[in-house]
Amino acid sequence: MYAEERQQAMAQLVTEHGRLSVAAIAEQFDVTTETVRRDLSALERIGLVRRVHGGAVPASSLAVIESGLGERDQANTAEKGRIARAALEQLPPAGGTVLLDAGSTTGRFARLLPRDHRLTVITHAVPIAARLAGQPQIDLHLLPGRVRTTTQAAVGADTITALERLRVDVAFLGTDVRPANTAVVIDVLRASSTITLALASGYERVLVAGSLDEARALRGDGRVLAGEVHCARAPGFDLGNSPEETLSPRGTELVLATTNGAPAILASAEAGGEVLVAAMLNLDAVVAELAGEDDVLLVCAGTDGRASIEDVYLAGRLSAALEGDRSDAARIAEAVAASYTTPREALEASAGAIGLRRENLETDIAFCAQESIADTVGRISETVDAVAVLTARTAGARPRAAAADMGPATNAGMD
Ligand code: MLT
Repeated sequence: MYAEERQQAMAQLVTEHGRLSVAAIAEQFDVTTETVRRDLSALERIGLVRRVHGGAVPASSLAVIESGLGERDQANTAEKGRIARAALEQLPPAGGTVLLDAGSTTGRFARLLPRDHRLTVITHAVPIAARLAGQPQIDLHLLPGRVRTTTQAAVGADTITALERLRVDVAFLGTDVRPANTAVVIDVLRASSTITLALASGYERVLVAGSLDEARALRGDGRVLAGEVHCARAPGFDLGNSPEETLSPRGTELVLATTNGAPAILASAEAGGEVLVAAMLNLDAVVAELAGEDDVLLVCAGTDGRASIEDVYLAGRLSAALEGDRSDAARIAEAVAASYTTPREALEASAGAIGLRRENLETDIAFCAQESIADTVGRISETVDAVAVLTARTAGARPRAAAADMGPATNAGMD
């Protein structure tokens, strides 16, 4: 069967079933999952299917691709609460005007607005408007337009025209990791280094949890708990977040919860597509994995919502090693990478290093700066109850080809 015939048959099958996993399609056509992913990308480009996490749906089933507000409200609740609390610091002085975007995180933020702070709030989100409507300190303006069921927010020409006339002090906008064929999560100091080394050292799986409490709930036989609070080992955990601590596995599964790296991995999992984890430690292996991929998104975890040098440095090194088109963001990352003579220099200069020095963990900086000492690449094999399960892929385990296009380097939640 020619590739075009196979792709046509695949599109037909996806349309008939409504949703199909990559594994099921691979079995049906007796081809590798990599071939299926490439075929689905080709079909997505011509608008016949849409890729979702682990599979594909017909292009017309937008409702399936985009999860509803209720569903999103149940996901990553701890992180959303933290973001909403942090965003409160950005409120303008009393009497100011804010724009609240629709979304589950902005919804939480609306719930936290202080009762003693006079504000004008403009929103297109019906649930947010309903929550604020009875609050005397809020001068509420609801934007016009057609209300979508999925987001429960007004959209369309009327909404845009009304927005164009407005001036606000601060806009609180929802954000996402955009869907990509392959997302590469980078948190050099230290989550992605720890994951890489744990899998290279013999842990069979790394279970990435959204919070320390969620990690604690996963405690069980053969499981080792690792996590940090401000870089220091979390209370009651077996390990902190130092990669070297994983060198001699004390179980079969490492359960990991960290401040920035873990949420970036979980957000990438939610966006769909293949998710890989990159560190300096496995740079060459990641480049080999990405060869032939035509839509790569580099997701820099950063530090507390801000870009950090060490992650942008690795994004730049990865971008420079791949062929194909780059976004401006990827070019900026390349320029950053080129301005350091060694990885160590970049890591030492980064925001991530500050907390490590404070906790007397500076040896981790030198350790994480080592280049390509592991040929293992962690990838999400499944997500179970908002926990991302990472397993190892060893370089050379799949055929290499020339890379084509390249998506933007981005900070998770900060495109
Ligand atoms: C994080 O996820 O924020 C980092 O990995 C923190 C750390 O270095 O422990």
